[in-house]
Amino acid sequence: MKTEPLKIMISGAPASGKGTQCELIKEKYGLVHIAAGDLLRAEVAAGTENGKRAKEYMEKGKLVPDEIVVMMVRERLMQSDAQENGWLLDGYPRSLSQAKALEDLGIRPDLFILLDVSEDILVERVVGRRLDPVTGKIYHLKYSPPENEEIAARLTQRFDDTEEKVKLRLQTHHNNVDDVLSVYKDVIYKVNGNAPREDVFAEIDSALSSVLEKKAKLDSSS
Ligand code: AP5
Repeated sequence: MKTEPLKIMISGAPASGKGTQCELIKEKYGLVHIAAGDLLRAEVAAGTENGKRAKEYMEKGKLVPDEIVVMMVRERLMQSDAQENGWLLDGYPRSLSQAKALEDLGIRPDLFILLDVSEDILVERVVGRRLDPVTGKIYHLKYSPPENEEIAARLTQRFDDTEEKVKLRLQTHHNNVDDVLSVYKDVIYKVNGNAPREDVFAEIDSALSSVLEKKAKLDSSS
């Protein structure tokens, strides 16, 4: 009998390393990475009505209204690749209403990973972050510099990656995080995200392996 695929949520303050860890998790476990922020940025780039509205909130570091986000994430989650291979939900849910919308659909994660990073480190990470528009890879000028000059020349910076804006995003995070955690109390796995990315991944990797083992045992006994 085939073991049910993994269903994982990853949460943490802005620039705590969610996207970075998702790249590593996806590579090893083949889960479908669904990032609420990426879905929204794609709408912004496409210049849709939803994208235009979303950008107003993103620039202020506020949560984009549920009527835009909830449907967007739900539709992506329901697609066959995510259902068959398992999913890795990044930056969602971020409020009690978003968590409840998932609960109403019977969607719960096997594990809710919470990256814990101190505030001074977050600001440094945001300001130094760069993105490769060709590969989608995340870099940091100091901690994860580009491999060569060609990549370095094409790196871009996100419109909300300034010290001023990250402080607003951080405030929004603090206002909502406890509500979200209250829904997932039984599956929270807190990780020290201050460590180098490989060390953070080693911790996450071992947690995911044991969840998979447990699921396999459960499936074989049923
Ligand atoms: P979103 O795109 O989700 O942004 P965020 O939560 O602020 O998180 P980031 O993407 O900034 O950071 P990350 O944790 O992925 O860190 P990364 O791995 O890149 O959301 C943006 C906006 O969209 C929100 O403000 C909101 O307006 C809207 N939105 C999104 N979701 C929403 C929702 N559910 N509802 C409503 N609105 C929503 O790492 C950061 C940097 O640090 C990189 O340069 C990286 O190389 C470096 N780094 C990572 N790990 C390490 C490490 N261990 N050591 C050293 N450097 C590291």
